[in-house]
Amino acid sequence: MHKTTEWLLSFSSEKSLKAPTRSLMTDGFKPCTKISITGGKGGVGKTSIALKTAQQLALAGFRTLLIDCDSNLSNTAIKLGLPLDNKFEKLLSAEAAFEEVLIQNGNFHLLPACNGSIELFESKLNFSEIIIDIISSHEYEYDYILLDCPAGVSREALTLNAFCDHRWIVVTPDKSSITDSYSLVKLLHARFGIKDNHLLVNMYQNDKQLLKVITTLSETIENFLGVRTHFLGGIQKVEVSAEGFDTFFLSEAKTEWQKNFVKLLYRFTEKDGGPTALRSHGVSQMAHEHDVH
Ligand SMILES: Nc1ncnc2c1ncn2[C@@H]1O[C@H](COP(=O)(O)OP(=O)(O)O)[C@@H](O)[C@H]1O
Ligand SMILES: [Mg+2]
Repeated sequence: MHKTTEWLLSFSSEKSLKAPTRSLMTDGFKPCTKISITGGKGGVGKTSIALKTAQQLALAGFRTLLIDCDSNLSNTAIKLGLPLDNKFEKLLSAEAAFEEVLIQNGNFHLLPACNGSIELFESKLNFSEIIIDIISSHEYEYDYILLDCPAGVSREALTLNAFCDHRWIVVTPDKSSITDSYSLVKLLHARFGIKDNHLLVNMYQNDKQLLKVITTLSETIENFLGVRTHFLGGIQKVEVSAEGFDTFFLSEAKTEWQKNFVKLLYRFTEKDGGPTALRSHGVSQMAHEHDVH
């Protein structure tokens, strides 16, 4: 049976969540860590954070693939100032290979999706199955695969979230963002048996506000759903113009804000990291360059 089908079928009963059997797994090879950057609500910073994370992990020496899962409203290439080409359509129709659609910059590889493609809109393709197949075919080529998830709680988005090893739930202090995040966690738990997630609070303005979001959300999730929330960190709201935002967010200048972001990633990779040479090299390089010990 096909790996994806097998994995999807495991949800037909209330059986526990299982990733596809990794037939490629051999001694000495560890598949990459898969992270979905998600949150339910739009405009909370998922795409910006996914890009920044991919950029920083790649700079630290990790082979990183970012997959834009906002299939027909893809924003990753736009934020990088790259031209839109809807080449992804060709990958779906098997007219182009994965490598031909991929945008590569050193260790950072980006698989953009489409923007307003009529062909994609009309197609009956199951997008989450396609993405899971892509991941399954390439997971041994990367240390990290990040998914920039679309807003909403469609079955496809939930499936992609559940497939990943970690879910970074991006939430802002806004009430509707907190509510949408809770709904996402609830559905992931009810339908896919997901018992833990990471929480990343974006656009907070002061420590009191940050603490309030963390406690409100994680306590409600724990008390009502019995689901664990690991606090990943907070990203402060930056006061830059809408036009200047992407340049600021993706800048590598060693500001306090940047240092804080790297610290957040360092804590995560250190906990996540397997004992491979590359992993420890990447983590220590990240710490050294930004003095985050
Ligand atoms: N930390 C932040 N500080 C200030 N504005 C932010 C921050 N994070 C995101 N934004 C604003 O939110 C907008 C939407 O971000 P984006 O990453 O596209 O969100 P999403 O992918 O969740 O829809 C950005 O263009 C920017 O204007
Ligand atoms: Mg987005």
